[in-house]
This record gives sequence, C-alpha cells and structure tokens, in this order.
Amino acid sequence: MITASSSSPSPSIRQPVSLLGAGGAATALGVALVAAGIEVSAVWSRRLEHAQALATRLPGALACSHPQSAADRGALVVLAVPDSAIVPLCAQLRWRSGQAVIHLAGAYGRELLAPAAQAGAETGAFHPLQTFAGRADPAAWHGVAVAIEADPPLATELASLARRLGAEPFSLDPVQRPLYHAAAALAANGLTALAGVAADLLHRATGLEREAAVRHLLPLLRGVLVNLEQLGLPQALTGPVARADRATLERHVAALARETPEWLALYRALAEAMLPLARERAANDRERLAALDALADWLASAESGEGVSR
Ligand SMILES: NC(=O)c1ccc[n+]([C@@H]2O[C@H](COP(=O)([O-])OP(=O)(O)OC[C@H]3O[C@@H](n4cnc5c(N)ncnc54)[C@H](OP(=O)(O)O)[C@@H]3O)[C@@H](O)[C@H]2O)c1
Repeated sequence: MITASSSSPSPSIRQPVSLLGAGGAATALGVALVAAGIEVSAVWSRRLEHAQALATRLPGALACSHPQSAADRGALVVLAVPDSAIVPLCAQLRWRSGQAVIHLAGAYGRELLAPAAQAGAETGAFHPLQTFAGRADPAAWHGVAVAIEADPPLATELASLARRLGAEPFSLDPVQRPLYHAAAALAANGLTALAGVAADLLHRATGLEREAAVRHLLPLLRGVLVNLEQLGLPQALTGPVARADRATLERHVAALARETPEWLALYRALAEAMLPLARERAANDRERLAALDALADWLASAESGEGVSR
C-alpha cells in the first residue's frame, strides 16, 4: 500500500552527501542536491573519469578513486550503482554509526544494505519514480514521487530531503516494491520500447529513418501525456479499440501479420489491455459495450489462431 509520508516539520538533512556511482541516477541526484543547497563532498565511480566528470558539475565535490574514501567523506552515502552491485559494494565497505546509507533501487528494500546496518549505520531505500538518462537537469526531481523505506528518524529525514528536491515522498510497504517497480518499468521502459516498435513500423511504411520517425512520433506521444494529465483515465484512451472499430483493427492485424509478425502478439496484448478502459469509457452506451464484447471475442479467437486473416 502506498501511504503519504508525514508532513511534520522538516528535520535537518544529514550532510555532506557522498555519491557512490556517477551514472544517470547519481548525476540527476547530485545536480539536484547542489541546486537545493545540499553539500556533496565526494563522488566515486568504477572508472575515475566518470567520477571526475560528475564531480566537476558539483562544486566542492572530490572525485575519489576508491569507494571507501568517498564513503568516509559522507554523512549520507548514496549507493547509486546497478541494483546487482549494491550488495557487494555495501559489503566491501566499512560503515560507522551516525552515518546514513541509502540506495536508489525500486524493486528492493533496505535489506540490500544489511552490512551497513550491522555496522551501526542507518539504512534506507529512496526510489524516484522517474527516468534519468544522464542529463544534468537540476529540476529533474520536481514533482517526482519518491518511494521511501527507512525507520524513523531517517524516514522523516529522507522525506524532508525529497521535499527539498521538489519531489513528493511516500512510504511503500517493502513487500510491494517489486509490483511498484514493475509499474515504473512498464510506464517508462515500456513506453520507450513501444516508441521503438512504432518507429520501426513507421520506417517500414514511409522509409523515414529512425531519428526522423521518432521526431514525427513525438507530438503524438506528447498528446497522449497531455490527455492523461488533463483528462485522466479512461478518457485519455482514443483510437479503434475505444471506438470498437473491428474493421480497422483487422486491417492493422493483417498488415502486421504480413510485414512484422513478430509484433503481432504485442499488438494483441495491448489491444486487450485497452478493452477495460474502452468499456469504462463506453459507460452506459449498450451498443458500444456489445461491440466491445464482440471485439474481445475476436481478439481472443485471434490469439488462439482462429479467425484471423494472415
Ligand atoms: N537511471 C534511472 O532512470 C533510475 C531511476 C530510478 C532509480 N535508479 C536506480 O539508480 C541506481 C543506479 O542506476 P543508474 O541508471 O544510474 O545506473 P548507470 O547509469 O548504469 O550507472 C551505474 C554507476 O555504477 C557504476 N557501476 C556499474 N557497475 C558496477 C558494479 N558492478 N560495481 C560497482 N559500480 C558499478 C558505474 O560506474 P562506471 O560508469 O564508472 O563503470 C556508474 O557509476 C540503480 O539502483 C537504479 O535502479 C535509476
């Protein structure tokens, strides 16, 4: 269950911060911390040049060649390395009480930081529901939901940190983290993959190269986001499934079967995912609801190999 974190008076935020990792998430966090007036004292990355590249963007931060030197310089230490590297990195370092150690992974809780907790440090998980591909944008955390898992008082301190970054903290039941992160991955990476498939189809249909195809898709993608923001679900759903337009869907399926059969299963799965939204949109329109039932039957038979023209 997702619950809003307490909005009690903000406690002081432990400083300075050390960043272990200098990739997309660390860059976005470091730049936002500095913009929020929070001191970043050290950056470590497997490759020193990556730590140096990030440290040059963070006034006062030292690029460290060893993770222990970076960890020692931080009151709040952020393990911003790939999820699979958090446990080995945490286990190889010496921690001290009074230090707080957090990671940014979405699918895991602070169990990954057990060695730090055993050494007396406070530990937490601090996952931004946002995608960071390496841009250094101080506003990248604005309005972002941040899933926090920590014991008090660190939980309150991390909530305060999130607010300082312009983000919106919430606490998340550790058991639900994998499901929560599946939602994040579907929305972010799934949308990117869909854009890739759509660009490929556009290329086949028009000859546009991928970059131009993506550029042509962007107004459409932005339109979807604006509709989601302004109209919400289910009103943001448009298109042939929302209209229960089987004839158009049949044309899509036939074209996909001919040109790129590898994307047929994805197309059908998404059409099925649209059905509940289309039904909700149709509300009391009995005729539309009946047409959607027929469409659902057709999709199901198409999936089992019956009744689809290939
Ligand atoms: N990027 C996002 O959109 C995003 C969003 C929310 C949460 N997160 C979380 O943030 C954390 C970092 O992700 P990221 O996207 O920033 O990763 P990333 O861009 O790939 O950067 C990974 C960083 O960790 C270092 N690293 C790579 N493999 C390592 C290993 N085996 N041992 C130690 N260090 C290693 C890299 O060093 P070198 O480059 O020097 O080799 C680099 O500094 C993850 O827990 C992820 O789940 C990411």
